Amino acid sequence: MNKEISNKAAQDRWNQRAVGAQRASAPRGSREYFDQIERHRYGYETPFIKDLLLTDLEGKSVLEIGVGNGIDASVICERADSYVGIDITRNHLDLTEQNLKQKGFRNFSLVEGDLTEFDFGEKKFDVIYSFGVMHHIAHEEDFLKRAKSLLTPDGEMRLAVYSKWSFFNAYILATWLVRNRCRVKFNLWQGHLTDASSFDNPIVVKVRSKSQYKYLLERNGFVIRKYYKRGFVQRYIPVLGRFLHPNGYTLNLLGSLFGWYHIFIVKTR
Ligand SMILES: C[S@@+](CC[C@H](N)C(=O)[O-])C[C@H]1O[C@@H](n2cnc3c(N)ncnc32)[C@H](O)[C@@H]1O
Repeated sequence: MNKEISNKAAQDRWNQRAVGAQRASAPRGSREYFDQIERHRYGYETPFIKDLLLTDLEGKSVLEIGVGNGIDASVICERADSYVGIDITRNHLDLTEQNLKQKGFRNFSLVEGDLTEFDFGEKKFDVIYSFGVMHHIAHEEDFLKRAKSLLTPDGEMRLAVYSKWSFFNAYILATWLVRNRCRVKFNLWQGHLTDASSFDNPIVVKVRSKSQYKYLLERNGFVIRKYYKRGFVQRYIPVLGRFLHPNGYTLNLLGSLFGWYHIFIVKTR
């Protein structure tokens, strides 16, 4: 799949309905809408984000690629000196702007476009942050090269991407085998189940092992400084799961073995 097709599928999907919008019952764009999504994000599904990906931002300039509802953007605006968010979907940029304005932030700007094409002039960033985006991009080598060119010499990129050896990926495989008896291609199932895109216009979903990502990152001029694996939630353990703390020892341990996200903190060579 090429860049145009993958970007169009992403835009078609997320311009219609924002990522994670199913977590909110409140009207789109209201304060309660953002609060509900934030509670689910940091209190249930991905509570590790603030501790592992959004620390040590004081005095720094941050670029976020793929902004979603602007939940992480508001933490970054609170902790960092300045924030720029780029996204190819107008819907996500509008929601992020609403969230940041409602919270009274002024230290941000938002731009629309593909990272690989947008002209940032001479601007460089201390931190590039991107959660759940690169695995949806057909042209990931261009993505990495462009990100590298936008970092300051001592800058850092922080990425979260889907993991191949994970409970959720095994669940998708089982669903595919049982429900569909192999009639639909596996990658269409992955695209559909992970982000609920339609079968005829699937979002790109690439699911890789840690060593495959290591190879990809190193080939594009990055060295890995830190690595974590996380993303194991209460509902994966029937009955007993709800007694476990979403960010506690047991679920983090299971996450480090079977979690849905690789987390890479990388620098340029
Ligand atoms: C799954 S969402 C993740 C959003 C957010 N980071 C989160 O975790 O909720 C992926 C986002 O990346 C954006 N995106 C996809 N390709 C992009 C590209 N080439 N340049 C910039 N943004 C892109 C999509 O529009 C979408 O907002």
